[in-house]
Amino acid sequence: MFSDRLSFADSSNALSKAKEKRRVAGLPTIDMTDANPANAGFGWSVVELGTLMRREGIQRQDPDARGLASARTAIADYYTARGVRVASERLFLSASTSESYSWLFKLLCNPGDEILVPEPAYPLLEVIAALEGVTLRPYRMVQLAGEWVIDQASLTASRQTRAIVCINPSNPTGAFVSRRDRDILRAFALKNHCAIICDEVFLDYPAEGVASPGTWANETQVALYVLSGLSKVALAPQLKVGWIVVAGPTDTAAESCRRLEHIADAFLSVNTPSQIALPDLLRRAEPLRVAVRTRVAQNEAALKTFITSTGHPSRLLTRPAGWMAILALPPGVAEERFLFNALDEGVWAHPGYFYGMPTALPSVILSLLLDPQVFAQGLAGLDRALRRS
Ligand SMILES: Cc1ncc(COP(=O)(O)O)c(C=O)c1O
Repeated sequence: MFSDRLSFADSSNALSKAKEKRRVAGLPTIDMTDANPANAGFGWSVVELGTLMRREGIQRQDPDARGLASARTAIADYYTARGVRVASERLFLSASTSESYSWLFKLLCNPGDEILVPEPAYPLLEVIAALEGVTLRPYRMVQLAGEWVIDQASLTASRQTRAIVCINPSNPTGAFVSRRDRDILRAFALKNHCAIICDEVFLDYPAEGVASPGTWANETQVALYVLSGLSKVALAPQLKVGWIVVAGPTDTAAESCRRLEHIADAFLSVNTPSQIALPDLLRRAEPLRVAVRTRVAQNEAALKTFITSTGHPSRLLTRPAGWMAILALPPGVAEERFLFNALDEGVWAHPGYFYGMPTALPSVILSLLLDPQVFAQGLAGLDRALRRS
């Protein structure tokens, strides 16, 4: 009776089962994967959100499938502030970055077609691709002199390849798509007649002292779609607003917009109150982002101290941007055994393999957004688990 698209729904790994067992038994667990800003104390108050949404217009639905003109103008202003001109007609609002991906897969792929995705990366696309009947083919990001760069040998296309995803900056590595890698991706896309999808949800979170190469929304040579949204930019995932910037050559961009309009029109999924609040949210979000960058830096410093003070030969990978830390485990420590021990100590964290980290580099991925006290308790649990592993 059911579609094969949901075949992934039958599997649940042993670690997740062990975590669930703790929950059912009523045992407390510190969730060191939690990257929801509201859980970490960042976001907007009920009064602020109420005021921004309780405005003329919330009683109507705008007929423009791309989203409210006022919201799109505010997003165009967001890019102007980052040095790139984006026409508001080249913007589409969606309910989230995840939905933007699904719309682009519909736009670019027939069932069975293929999308190239970087590895390691946040495992968001497996489910979306399965639901769209699209196959993912990974290309490797490798560390070269401490920097994550594309392993060109792994970047190959088939006749089914329709697009390449890149993440600027990536989650969890925090690596920006460098000028060199942009040139590689552009040349590859031109040669293989495919588009580029550039996910920039973490663009505004460079680590201190890191020079960001900036948004790629100014691309003119190759069909390119930039994705972002309020969930990270304005720390408001609950408002459910993402967007797509259609970049690239004028004729391809115009055709993309014409087709995307049909997709957006079929769903009209963006709610009006959030769109009405969006201009003010974007204008006022920077202090919240500063607070997040400060928290992330504070927890990262605590993590460095933890490594030196415990004397364990674990290592923190350099974080050019983003909210996550990659803790490389001491040689010989198996990710899964360590994380089972961590669960026994009341701490939940993700293994590196969950993100496609190289097997030669066993690691755990930690959210740096947590309340510093909770983060410290989590680290103490990880320390006990490390000693047992
Ligand atoms: C790189 C990346 N893109 C997109 C998303 C999802 O964004 P949204 O909440 O807008 O769907 C995430 C979620 O953490 C992410 O890490």
